Amino acid sequence: MRTQVVIIGAGPSGLLLSQLLHLAGVECVVLERRSPDYVLSRIRAGVLEQGMVKMLERAGVSERLHKDGLPHDGVALHVGETRLRIDLKNLTGGKHVMVYGQTEVTRDLMDAHTARGAKVIYETGKVTPLDFDTDHPKVTYEKDGLTREISCDFICGCDGYHGASRAAVPDDAITEYEKIYPFGWLGILSYVKPVDHELIYANHANGFALASMRSNSLSRYYIQVPTGTDPKSWSDDAIWDELKIRLGEEAADKMETGPSIEKSVAPLRSFVAEPLRFGRMMLAGDAGHIVPPTGAKGLNLAASDIHYLSNALIEYYGEKSSAGIDDYSNKALARIWKAERFSWWMTSLLHQFPELGPFNARMQRAEMEYLASSRAAQIGLAENYVGLPY
Ligand code: FAD
Ligand code: DHB
Repeated sequence: MRTQVVIIGAGPSGLLLSQLLHLAGVECVVLERRSPDYVLSRIRAGVLEQGMVKMLERAGVSERLHKDGLPHDGVALHVGETRLRIDLKNLTGGKHVMVYGQTEVTRDLMDAHTARGAKVIYETGKVTPLDFDTDHPKVTYEKDGLTREISCDFICGCDGYHGASRAAVPDDAITEYEKIYPFGWLGILSYVKPVDHELIYANHANGFALASMRSNSLSRYYIQVPTGTDPKSWSDDAIWDELKIRLGEEAADKMETGPSIEKSVAPLRSFVAEPLRFGRMMLAGDAGHIVPPTGAKGLNLAASDIHYLSNALIEYYGEKSSAGIDDYSNKALARIWKAERFSWWMTSLLHQFPELGPFNARMQRAEMEYLASSRAAQIGLAENYVGLPY
């Protein structure tokens, strides 16, 4: 088989890229190692920046998002005794974020692919990008017991942190920057009313907690737990009790509790691979970088990568120019490093780091007091939270 672009991975990056390329008349095939149901079962991000919402509009998949998504004009931080509302709208000249789950974004993109009969091949084995340092790259994979091959002009590695694309790059062609945090987030999803109409990020002596939501009747909560924690070792009751302690009295009084419908632990990691282009293969989304989830930047960064990458490929086929492809890595990385900084800063402010001692705890307190007293500091937080421009 031959196509113009092979996309490895049918997560949000891969499907968004394929949709935008299709609309511009660029031919592509998507290869995904899991089944559609498995991809949809992964509960991940929940907060979309306006730039990402615009991308989904451009991709023609924003109808349900505008019907069911919840625009949020503010977000609360609760550190020690200080509770501070960051008025996103006022501080950014009218911007907001949209609460709409990654699962729903993926479902909307999958439906659009099904409606146009797009080539997404699920449950592929041993996907291998080859010859991307030549003008004739190809990808081999296994399906139904047979090895198949697709030749193409470009390979887009949208296959997440553990994917095959980055792993295929020779060690001496890539530099990886990484920071691993000694804790993870235990997440719980439950059909209960959210404790507040806005998100609350809290740093309590027992650790971080986040009150989030997927709708007015579906809540998503997280607590900081040590690395290696088994989610089954936490009963639902124990999680609700801990959330009440960490989110403070006001939230505890209002919190509705109920059975969890999903419970999982996500590790926290900062990671950037440089560059993001290797001849005729480009990496995008989690394949090229990871942020700790504090600040909700992971999914949004995947969208900004796809903005640069889709424009570059469309320019290549439309105007016969490779300028966008040549620029892709630098342009994407400039925004990625800023989001890495913000996610690292939010993580540093909002988690317990006992190994860093009492000085670190006082720095967190001072940072919070400064934020509470300075509109300039709040603007810095707000403009990053709603998303830096593309
Ligand atoms: P992915 O969503 O990882 O998609 C990659 C796809 O490639 C997957 O479908 C995978 O099955 C497929 N794939 C992998 N290897 C291969 C292969 N060899 N061959 C073919 N296909 C392959 N972000 C937030 O903002 N907030 C959160 O709360 C949050 N929680 C998270 C929790 C977890 C456990 C994880 C892992 C991430 C979380 N993120 C969160 C980050 C966010 O979900 C990601 O940034 C986002 O999913 C990136 O999209 P992606 O398409 O680049 O990668
Ligand atoms: C959610 C996840 C985040 O990482 C975050 O910062 C805010 C909300 C969520 O899953 O709802």
